[in-house]
Order: sequence, then structure tokens, then C-alpha cells
Amino acid sequence: MISYMKIMLGETPYLLRTPEEFDYSVEGEAEVLARRRDDPRALMILAEADGEIIATSDVMPMGTKSRTLHRATLGMSVRQDYWRLGIGSAMMERLIAHARQSGFEQIELEVVSTNRRAIGLYVKYGFQVYGTRPHGIKYPDGSYADDYLMRKVL
Ligand SMILES: CC(C)(COP(=O)(O)OP(=O)(O)OC[C@H]1O[C@@H](n2cnc3c(N)ncnc32)[C@H](O)[C@@H]1OP(=O)(O)O)[C@@H](O)C(=O)NCCC(=O)NCCS
Repeated sequence: MISYMKIMLGETPYLLRTPEEFDYSVEGEAEVLARRRDDPRALMILAEADGEIIATSDVMPMGTKSRTLHRATLGMSVRQDYWRLGIGSAMMERLIAHARQSGFEQIELEVVSTNRRAIGLYVKYGFQVYGTRPHGIKYPDGSYADDYLMRKVL
């Protein structure tokens, strides 16, 4: 999982961390995975090809406070060699079904506004932009990108 994250983060400018900033130890990553595994309302999906992880995604509760128990968050990534094959869509369908079964009322996510591919996928599955965070991302060359806040009602 750690080597997947480092490779995948190097393939996209649209996630918050650089590969160098993914500094989880094996124990730290194991704890993160165990928390998802042990939460019946969370679901994490890994896709493999030739024994290697090529995609990951998850849907999780927004938090543990009683007033936010109706809200889920979603994230996903696919290795570049496997884009546009329907893997993101297949994971999305499974995650939405799980969120519904788990009693969530809405799924929320944030996406960089220039990430056309991800936004296309999210819109295809009924997510709508409800807000914009100006200059959510700043790149080393000094340029900025805004973030879209998106939500799907279940
Ligand atoms: C975004 C990402 C998960 C999409 O995964 P994928 O497996 O390529 O997605 P799919 O093949 O299922 O494509 C899904 C839909 O995305 C949309 N899409 C794909 N490429 C697109 C593009 N270049 N422009 C606009 N929409 C696009 C289409 O609606 C497509 O559906 P269609 O093929 O039926 O037309 C993948 O590109 C990725 O991991 N990117 C880097 C990490 C990232 O940005 N994660 C999201 C952070 S919020």
C-alpha cells in the first residue's frame, strides 16, 4: 500500500500530498487500514493487476459526532496506466451502494477544480458542486488551483 501511494502520488498533481509527504511507516499504515476494516460503516476497495495494487478507494463516516453521522466522505485513485478503463466507475458504484446500505444520507468530497477527469466521474454519478475554495492548492511554480466542494444526496 505504501509503495502504491508513493507511485500514484507521483502521477497526479491533483492530490494534497507529494510522494515525499507520504511518510507513513508500515505500522502507521497498518493502523489506518485496521481502522477502516473495523468500522462497519466504512468500506475500502483495492484493485489489483498482476499482484500489484492499481487502484484504491474508500467511503467513510465524516466523523464520530452524533450530528454528523449522516455524512460520508469518499476518495479514490487509479494508477495512470489503468485510467479510462471503467475502474473508477466500478469502485464508485460499489461505494455508493455501501453508503446507502450503511444509512448515510449524503457523500461529500473535495476535488481540485482543474481535475476534469475526476469531476467528470463524480458528475456522472450525481455529485454536484456546492462551493468553491479559492486557492486551495499552491504549486511550486507559484500558481494556484481552486477546490470544488461536491456532494451527492443518497
Ligand atoms: C479520477 C480517476 C479516479 C478516474 O478513474 P478511472 O478509472 O479513469 O475512471 P473511469 O474509467 O471509470 O471513467 C469514469 C468517467 O470519468 C469521466 N472522465 C474520464 N476521463 C475524463 C476526461 N479526460 N474528461 C472528462 N471526464 C472524464 C467520464 O465521465 C468517465 O465515464 P465514461 O468513460 O463512461 O465516459 C483517475 O483518473 C485517478 O485516479 N486520477 C488521479 C487521482 C485523482 O485525481 N483522484 C481523485 C481526487 S478527488
